[in-house]
Amino acid sequence: MTQVVRSLDQWRHIAGSNGYRQKVAGFVPTMGALHQGHRSLIDRCRSENDLTVVSIFVNPTQFNDPKDLRNYPRTFEKDLELLEAAGVDYLLSPDYESIYPDDYRYQVQETSFSAELCGKSRPGHFTGVLSVVMKLLQLVRPHRAYFGEKDYQQFVLIKEMARAFFLQTEIRSCPTIRDDDGVAMSSRNALLSPDGRSRAAEFARLLKAPMNSKERMDALANVGTVEYIEEMLGRRFGAIRIDGVRLIDNIPLEEPN
Ligand code: PAJ
Repeated sequence: MTQVVRSLDQWRHIAGSNGYRQKVAGFVPTMGALHQGHRSLIDRCRSENDLTVVSIFVNPTQFNDPKDLRNYPRTFEKDLELLEAAGVDYLLSPDYESIYPDDYRYQVQETSFSAELCGKSRPGHFTGVLSVVMKLLQLVRPHRAYFGEKDYQQFVLIKEMARAFFLQTEIRSCPTIRDDDGVAMSSRNALLSPDGRSRAAEFARLLKAPMNSKERMDALANVGTVEYIEEMLGRRFGAIRIDGVRLIDNIPLEEPN
């Protein structure tokens, strides 16, 4: 049974108990609308720890666009079924007031890499992400926390935050899970029309196609509004707007042998 915890008082009681403290806890933070990408993080977490804690918190401070926050899919009952089936021990699902008792006066800001890639068009986004992840890590105090390579920039920023602030949690990454048409699974995919969905598949295909950058940009111009295609850290990163939905993806430039 997955124990659903909405109140932080109740959570502190659980996390302070001997039963919890004596075990190795793994943590998977999410914003819900769970899919097989999330499930892969949970399965990895379960295989490497005694206890698995998942959080669902649609974090308003990381949405720079209020419409994106309003439209973000919310499927709590279905999410809970997935967590039960996956054997998750605790679901932490607090409200805004308990996560932000300071009303976001205190923020965790990174000043370099967070301004690149997604940071260019989403001011404040990574400050919102880092602030909420810092808060969640303080509450859960896991031995390990798991993040997807789907959001590779986010993973790198969180890993380096943990190092910068001497956090006791080890930050681990998990490979991107894709649907059969190559599209990286994402909660936002549910917002695509059938035509948008085939364009998303084209985006995934073109991101890894062997082309020079001009050919790739020209081809992608027919798929949607390209925000960026950039190579760094041994990966190619892309962001595109299709049907008004912003999709991101990235691939390693050399497949691991
Ligand atoms: P969310 O988009 O719900 O994603 C939660 C975790 O699942 C992230 O680590 C993300 O990289 C991972 N994930 C999403 N799609 C994936 C896929 N197709 N394959 C593998 N992993 C995937 O990312 C967030 O929430 C938030 O920013 C959060 C870290 C919870 C802070 O609010």
